[in-house]
This record gives sequence, structure tokens and C-alpha cells, in this order.
Amino acid sequence: MSIKIQTLSGYLHEYQKSVLEPEAFWNRVAETFHWKKQWDKVVDWNFEEPKINWFVNGKLNITENILDRYMYTHGDRPAIIWEPNDPSEASRTLTYKDLYEQVNQFSNALKQKGIKKGDRIVIYMPMVPEAAIAMLACARVGAVHSIVFAGFSSTALADRINDCQAKMVLTSDENYRGAKVIPIKAVVDEAVENCSTIESVITLCRTGGEVIMKQDRDYWWHDVIEGESTICEAEEMDSEDLLFILYTSGSTGKPKGVVHTCGGYMVYAQFTFENVFQYTAGDVYWCTADVGWITGHSYIVYGPLLTGATTLMFEGIPTYPDAGRFWDVVDKHKVNQFYTAPTAIRALEAHGLDPFKGKDLSSLKVLGSVGEPINEEAWHWYHDHVGKNKCPIVDTWWQTETGGIMLSPIAGITPTKPSYATLPLPGIQPVIVDEKGQELKGNSVQGNLCIKYPWPGMIRTTYGDHDRCKQTYFSTYPGMYFTGDGVKRDEDGYYRILGRVDDVINVSGHRMGTAEVENAINEHPLVIESAVVGYPHEIKGQGIYAYVIADDSQRSAASLENEIRATVNKIIGPIAKPDKVQIVTGLPKTRSGKIMRRILRKIAEGQTDNFGDTSTLLDPTVVDEIIENMK
Ligand code: WT7
Repeated sequence: MSIKIQTLSGYLHEYQKSVLEPEAFWNRVAETFHWKKQWDKVVDWNFEEPKINWFVNGKLNITENILDRYMYTHGDRPAIIWEPNDPSEASRTLTYKDLYEQVNQFSNALKQKGIKKGDRIVIYMPMVPEAAIAMLACARVGAVHSIVFAGFSSTALADRINDCQAKMVLTSDENYRGAKVIPIKAVVDEAVENCSTIESVITLCRTGGEVIMKQDRDYWWHDVIEGESTICEAEEMDSEDLLFILYTSGSTGKPKGVVHTCGGYMVYAQFTFENVFQYTAGDVYWCTADVGWITGHSYIVYGPLLTGATTLMFEGIPTYPDAGRFWDVVDKHKVNQFYTAPTAIRALEAHGLDPFKGKDLSSLKVLGSVGEPINEEAWHWYHDHVGKNKCPIVDTWWQTETGGIMLSPIAGITPTKPSYATLPLPGIQPVIVDEKGQELKGNSVQGNLCIKYPWPGMIRTTYGDHDRCKQTYFSTYPGMYFTGDGVKRDEDGYYRILGRVDDVINVSGHRMGTAEVENAINEHPLVIESAVVGYPHEIKGQGIYAYVIADDSQRSAASLENEIRATVNKIIGPIAKPDKVQIVTGLPKTRSGKIMRRILRKIAEGQTDNFGDTSTLLDPTVVDEIIENMK
């Protein structure tokens, strides 16, 4: 039996215990899983190296806690309900028994193709059940999956394949997204041209579109599973063996591979899922994210399936064929818990209330929000029109690096406050620090958010570069994990996330490094230098504003701007395309040559005076010129 909080006093009690005796607390949670061998020690850690080992020497396979576990207790229960992009195509349901068989079969196929424990496999797939089957099959045989969101470009895909030295890519012929059909196998072909470690590519037939199959490298999914057994013994994994790598953007350099391991991640994903959403047997739970992001890993696949839940997987987008699609799906599958991002809520809000007409949303019990701060207006719209004033909203704050939800109400139990992630989950010890690293105690304080004690789902390292992990998360405030977020704790002790305090921007809930976008822009042959900042965007939360110094003697500014957007599209993907590109003759720099981003941010926000102290500015006329030609 898992540990499920039932009341507010129950939450407060568990929280207390989890802080006073963290090892006893997590020991109790971990005991609710099936282990091949019990751990010797709950946690062995220091934040200096950092070294983070949970459930030391424990042996397990995460898929046994999904497949073997529920196959016998409720094999006929739907594990995955899949809703396709096109509403006229039939939906599919996979029971726990189906999942057991299909994962095992694909696991055997992976072995047949030479995959061994520890090998890395990149998954570049649409939102179809086979994506989840692929993840679980990797975990079953001990391979490490690294999913790359299927909207990333071939260059971005190749970078990630090369960074983790993957042996295999799993993909599909094409990907349906709204009215578009995207030939993703062709993107993989282009990427693996530059990836010497790739031995094979397995392609799922999703659309039947034409693809080129390369002899002795490319195989069809349906061919490789043919004749394979539906039984496959689960590889014995150490608690700290790698489960997956997921690339995410930071304030400097290329995206880094966040590493999560088998034991701790399993415990944390399950515990947080069941408690935050208050999932009960028989409920239909739907998270609208993509498996290419951490939300999809923890709260479409692992958390729900480890709970024996029914998880709905949606292939499409919120506005296809129209802005009522989400509500159609809720009505059709009688969804009980619905988890989405503020950017989707704001986009749908813009379509008014017509899309709700004729849709029965009465099955909904809990609403969730994730990915970026939810503004009060969107919170109320969500509460009133989707939740019909009767569903608690769980505003869940967490990160790729945290593996699971950290600050959040427990649905229906923690009193909520619009735009507040409210309180830490049991086991999480947040602290607010000032610039100097002094802890700000008590209520009504504001500063940077750190966590002072480890939790099982946390990042272990950045793949292939442990020092980068240390520098990024553990050296700004020694002895603490630094989140990169600003936060306020109000008079009631409630937490409100204020947004990133580093050079990371959050566009439609997607994390983007300003340096990463600048590097892509600088690839354009006529670009000399660029500076990228975020600015408030009504729907996306933040938009991307690029100030670019370029040689415009051969092109009009307008065509240069378009070419720059196309360059970013090619190097990273459509999600990184700047919303605004302004060609400038100079950037505001200090005498020592540092770009004064503060000024650029203000201009992007539409503020044209009050720049604060500009005495270090080398050439103030640059600022006047930028303002004059502002977008
Ligand atoms: C960053 C992490 C966690 C899954 C999706 C994003 C922001 C996330 C919230 C929230 C305010 C939030 C933070 C965080 N963020 N959730 N409920 N309220 N901000 O994961 O791509 O790793 O991004 O997203 O700034 O640091 P990610």
C-alpha cells in the first residue's frame, strides 16, 4: 500500500516527520515498492561534490513496479488511453496486460538488435503509446533513454545523440500535429549523418508516409517485434544506475543532460503523483504535456503507471480541429484529473466561452498547472470555466532537475491561493536566500529559492560532465541546491514563484537559454553579434526578443530578420524562433565590454526611460538608437 495523505493535519504531520527524520520517512515510502534486494542505507549524500545516493545498494527494475505488479492485480484495467490528433481516427486503449506484453515484446526486440544494459537510446517520437512502450522497454533491459522532443531540429537532435553517445534512435515515419504532417524520420536521417555512434534506427509506421530505409541500419518497428516473445525478464538495476537522461537549457552553453536514476526517481514520481492529484483507483487522469519534456516522463508515464492509474495520452494540439478539443476529450473519456500549462489556458481563454458549448466537464475533480507562473486572471478563468468552481487547482512548481513536483497544494486538502504554489511536499526543505547566500527566515520574505536537503527524485549529475552539475546547481550557494528561480514567501508561509533570476527564459512553458539562442543567431553569415532577452508575452508568458548587429548592406532589414528566424529554426527548432528581431548598429555595453542586458530587457518590455545607473555605459547613443527603432 502506498502512502496517501488524506487530510490537512495528515499533511502537516507527514511534513513534520519528513523534516525531523527524513530517512525514516523515505524508508517508509520506498517500502511500498517491489525491490529485488533491499537497500543498506536510505541516503548517502553531500552537496559539495555533489554526491547523492538514495536507497544505497538496493536492486530493482522500475518496470516490475508497473508491469509485473499490476498485470496480476488488475491486468484488465486501462493503463493508457490514447486519443489521436484527428478526432475521426479511433482512440486506443492498452490495459496493463497489453502494456506488459507489448513492452516485453519490444524489450526482446531491443536485445535482438544488440542493446545491452547501460546503452543509450534516443527516442524521437510522436505522442503515441509506442513512445511509452519504448521508454519502458529501455528501462526493462537496463538501457538509458533520452527523449528528444520531436519538434527539435536535426542539428539539435544530433547534438544530443552525440553528447550521450547513443547507439540507437527510435522514431516514426511522420508526426501529425494539428493540420500539419511532419516527416520526422527524415529529420533523424539528417541528424544521424553526423552521429558515428548510431548503429540502428527503428521506425514506427504512424502515417504510412514515404521514408528512405537504409540497409543494415534502418528497421521497421513492426518487423523487429515480429515473432518476439511477450515475456522478457527484467534486468536487475542498482538504485543509482541511470534510468534516463533528459536535455534541458541553462544560462550558459549547450543544453545539458540531466541524469535521473532508477530507485529514487521511481519512489519520487509515484509518491508525488498519487498525493498531489489525489488519484483514486478507476479515475482517468490526463496530462497534456509531451513525453519529450520532464512533465511527460514523470506525469504521463512513470508516476501514473507506477500507481496503477489510467493515463490519457493525447497526440494533438489544443486548437485542432478547433479550440474546443480539450473539452471534447475530457467529455469523451470522462477525465477526472486534468493537468496542463498556463500558456495553453491563456491561448484557450482568448477563444472565449463558445468552445465549451455542449461539452460535459462534470467528470473533472482536480485541475493542475505546470511549467511557468500562472497569472491570477488565467487561474480564475481555469477555476471558473473549466473547473466550474468546484475543482481545486494544484499549481505545481518543479523542474527537469527535480524529477518531480516540489511545491504544490495537495488537491482538495491544501487551501489554495491564486498564483501560489503554496507549500512544500513532504520531504522537501526549501529555503529562501538573499544575494549573499544568507537564509531569510520567517514569513514575508523574498529572494532566491534553494533546497537544503536531498530528495529521491533529484538530479544526480549532468551527463559526462559532473563539474558542470556542481557549478550550475551547487556552487552559487554552497551546501544548497540552487533552483534558478526567484520566490516570495508570504505572511501565511505560502510560496509564490516569481520566475527565473538567471539568463533562462520560459517561452510557453519551454525553457530556453538566451546564450543558446544567441549562438544559433550568430551562425547566420551576416550576423556580427546578438543579444537575446525575454519580454512579457500575453499568451506565451515570455516572448523572445533578439537585438542583432548584422551586415545589412546586401539585404533589407525585413529579409535579414526572416533569415535569422529561419537560422534559429534550423539550429534549434520552431520553439526557439525569436518573436521579435531588431537589427541594430550597436549593443549597450559597459566599458569592459559586457552587454547591459538590464537595459535591453527594459526596452523589450516597452520601457524607454528609467534605466537606473547607466554611468558605466560606453556609448549612450546606442540606447537612443535602439529605442527609436524598437519593435
Ligand atoms: C522552470 C523549470 C516542471 C516541468 C515543466 C518545466 C518554471 C515550472 C512552475 C510553476 C512557476 C514554474 C520555473 C522552473 N516553472 N513550474 N508552477 N510556477 N514557475 O520544467 O523546463 O525544467 O523548467 O519552469 O522557472 O525553474 P523545466
